[in-house]
Amino acid sequence: MHQARLTLDPAFKVAPVRRRTFGTFVEHLGRCVYTGIHEPGHPTADEDGFRRDVLDLTRELGVSTVRYPGGNFVSGYRWEDGIGPVAQRPRRLDLAWHSTETNEVGVDEFVRWCRKAGVEPMMAVNLGTRGLAEALDLLEYANHPSGTTLSDLRVANGAKEPHDIRMWCLGNEMDGPWQTGHKTAREYGRLAAETARAMRMIDPELELVACGSSSSSMPTFGTWEAEVLEETYDLVDYISCHAYYQERDGDLGSFLASSADMEYFISSVVATADSVGARLKSRKKINISFDEWNVWYISRFQDAGAPQDWPVAPPLLEDHYHLADAVTFGGLLITLLRNSDRVTAASLAQLVNVIAPIMTEPGGRAWRQTTFHPFAQASRHAAGDVLRVEPDSPVYETKAYGEVPLLHAVATHSAEGTTLFAVNRSVDTPLSLEIDARALGGVRIVEASTLTDPDVYAGNSADEPGRITPRANGDVEADPLRVLLPPVSWNVIRLA
Ligand code: AHR
Repeated sequence: MHQARLTLDPAFKVAPVRRRTFGTFVEHLGRCVYTGIHEPGHPTADEDGFRRDVLDLTRELGVSTVRYPGGNFVSGYRWEDGIGPVAQRPRRLDLAWHSTETNEVGVDEFVRWCRKAGVEPMMAVNLGTRGLAEALDLLEYANHPSGTTLSDLRVANGAKEPHDIRMWCLGNEMDGPWQTGHKTAREYGRLAAETARAMRMIDPELELVACGSSSSSMPTFGTWEAEVLEETYDLVDYISCHAYYQERDGDLGSFLASSADMEYFISSVVATADSVGARLKSRKKINISFDEWNVWYISRFQDAGAPQDWPVAPPLLEDHYHLADAVTFGGLLITLLRNSDRVTAASLAQLVNVIAPIMTEPGGRAWRQTTFHPFAQASRHAAGDVLRVEPDSPVYETKAYGEVPLLHAVATHSAEGTTLFAVNRSVDTPLSLEIDARALGGVRIVEASTLTDPDVYAGNSADEPGRITPRANGDVEADPLRVLLPPVSWNVIRLA
C-alpha cells in the first residue's frame, strides 16, 4: 500500500472556483447536433425538436458555457445559412469533416437550446474562409437589440430579445495546417486584432478569445502565442489552449499522467503571455480559455479517415470511454481547477456523441459515459475558493513525463464545507491518504465516493449504463481523516 498526505488550509487559496471551468462544446460534427441535441422525430423531442433526455443529462452534468459551432467546422461556416425558415436553408459541403451540413440548426436554435439547458452560449466566428465583415454581421444579428436590418431580421426570425452572447472565439485552431484558411501567427494575429477592434466598436465589454496552440506539441508552440499576443494583447481577454490525450502503445502509466502535459502547457502559455505583457509594459493579464480538452483516441479517427461520400451527421469520433479514460479525465479536470488563477474558462470537447460524456442512439436511448461522472461531480461540488493542497506523495516513473506523483489532487472550500478531488494513478496499488485538516478546526470526512473498477477498460453502454458509476467509499469509517484510494480511481471526499 502507498501512503500519501496533504493539507487543507483555507489560507492556501488559488482563486475563486470559476463556473466557466465547467464549459463544454457543441460542434456541427458527426452526431453532436443532429441526433445529439436535436432530433425532431425522437420520442423525447420537445416543440423545437430538442431531445429532452439530452437536455436533462446536460443539466445533470452541470454545464456552464457551451462553445459553438466549431471547432474545425467554423472555419468554413456561413452563419447566415442557419437562420430563417428551415425549409429554405442551403445544404453545404463541410470540408472539415467531409460531411453535408443541412443547416437545420443555426445560431437562433442553438441559443434557444442554451436557454432551455440553462447554459451560457459562447460563439466562434469564422476567420478561415471569412473575416471581419462577417464576424461583425453575426455580432450585430445576435446581440444588437433592434432597429437595423440584421437585428430586425433576428426579431423576424422569432428571437425578439438579443442573444447577448458575451464570449467570442476569434476563429479556431488557426495554427493547424488542417484548418481551412490556416494562417501564420502574424497573419492570424493581424486579422484577430482587426476583428477584435471592430467587434469592440459594437460592444466594448465583449470577452474575446484569440487562438493559441492546438496542442503543446505543435512545432510553433510558444512562438505562436507570443506573435499572436504581440498583435492582439490590448484587444483580447483570453488566449486559447487545446489538448487531447489517449493511451498509446499500452502505456497506461503515462496515459494516467496526461495532466503533467496540461500543467506544462498552462505554465508555458502563462509565462509567454506575461512576457509579452512585460515587453508591452502592460498591467493587463491575459487569461487562458482551455476551450478544447478531453481524452480522444484521435489515432482511430486518423486510421479510419474522414467519410468519402459527404454524409449527413455520420457517426464520427464516437469514442467509448472506459474507467482509465475517466480517471485520466479527472486528472485533467483537477489540473484545470488547480490553475484557476489563470485558466478562467474551459470547454470540454464535446458534449454529446462526439468524444462526449453523453451518448445517444438515434431514435433511442441516451446514457452517461464514464467521463460524465468526474465532470458532474466536480461541477456539483466545487464551490467557493480553490485551494492548493501541498500533497506529499510517492512518485512513479513514466515514459512520457518522467517522474510523476501517484496522487493528483485539489480542493475547494466554502462556508458549506470543503471538497477534495483526488486521483490515484497507481495501476495496481491502493493509496492511503491522510488529510491534515487542522486549519479547518475539527472537520471530518462526511462523505467519500470513488469511481473505480477491477477492469480499468470497463465502460458504460446503452445496455449497461451504470457499469461504471461513483460508489460510496466505505473505507472512511476507521479514521475520520484518512481514506483509502483504490488503484486507478477518481475520488471525491467531502469534509465538514
Ligand atoms: O473536437 C474535435 C476537433 O478537434 C475540433 O473540431 C478541432 O478544433 C480540434 O482539432
